[in-house]
Amino acid sequence: MIDFNPVSKASAPGKIILFGEHAVVYGRPAIAAPVSQIRASASVVYSSSNLCFLVAPDLNRLDRLQDLPEDNPLARAVWLVVKAANLWEPPGVTIRVHSQIPIASGMGSGAAITAAIIRALAKHLQREDLQSNEMVSALTYEVEKIYHGTPSGIDNTVVAYEQPIYFVRQSPKNRIEPFTVAAPLRFVVADTGVRSSTKVAVGNVRRQYNEQPAKFAKIFDECGRIAQEARQAIEAGDVAKVGQLMTENHAWLQKMTVSSPELDKLVDTALQAGALGAKLSGAGRGGNMLALVADEEMETNVTTALQNAGAKNILTTILT
Ligand code: PMV
Repeated sequence: MIDFNPVSKASAPGKIILFGEHAVVYGRPAIAAPVSQIRASASVVYSSSNLCFLVAPDLNRLDRLQDLPEDNPLARAVWLVVKAANLWEPPGVTIRVHSQIPIASGMGSGAAITAAIIRALAKHLQREDLQSNEMVSALTYEVEKIYHGTPSGIDNTVVAYEQPIYFVRQSPKNRIEPFTVAAPLRFVVADTGVRSSTKVAVGNVRRQYNEQPAKFAKIFDECGRIAQEARQAIEAGDVAKVGQLMTENHAWLQKMTVSSPELDKLVDTALQAGALGAKLSGAGRGGNMLALVADEEMETNVTTALQNAGAKNILTTILT
């Protein structure tokens, strides 16, 4: 009989997409980074009953695993671990989840909650093999399909590896490359407060791509080129260039129709307040935007301007 850990805990970070969202679904390169100061966490507590419960106090929910529908993302995460661990049935545990990451705002809350559950449960089961970054990412990807429809794999990768990555969706294996950040990049992240479904935004881009393949392929190519150039600029410590490329990427995202008046307003506000560059981040149509700032003084100016323009949950994250 295995002596399971009485309490196992794990957490995973939020994330931002610096370059290449949406185009990444179509095989173009993209860059994403973790936001380690906001996290989702899961704890697994051994229970004497043989039932498995999922508790999400933030959502006011307590459910028996078996009662949750197939497409419930938290339940799917647990079942995937049960299957990967070759268990006959779910363990008798209570899994408690908590997240500081705003939902449906492009910060990867779904991927982070999933990764935290997978790691905590794998720890409880003392399955080292299921705790590797590669495995956590692969299992999280399966759950991302519920949220995204056709996920590129970038969200699960960045939250599982918890490091900045250059990512290309390709088969048989995605290209996942950590890279050096030659000069620190200071980002102000601000939320429009408008919730937006990734699945809807991604589906909408897909429909437009099907209707106008040449036009959208060109837009995706440009986003891919920008991501490539951005990686070179980041590795060379050319912060000003990174900023320019962000603003350029935003213009292509507008052409893709995934921006919104609220996002455009915050991007313009940040640029007018002196930011080196600004763009939406994630699926768009709402959610977050990023502004690159050179120093603390610029950060204060941009943050104040964004606050005055109605932005929510403003935070700064520094990529080193
Ligand atoms: O989950 P979000 O809002 O960060 O969006 C994910 C990024 C997309 O490129 C729009 C979709 C994907 O699967 O890569």
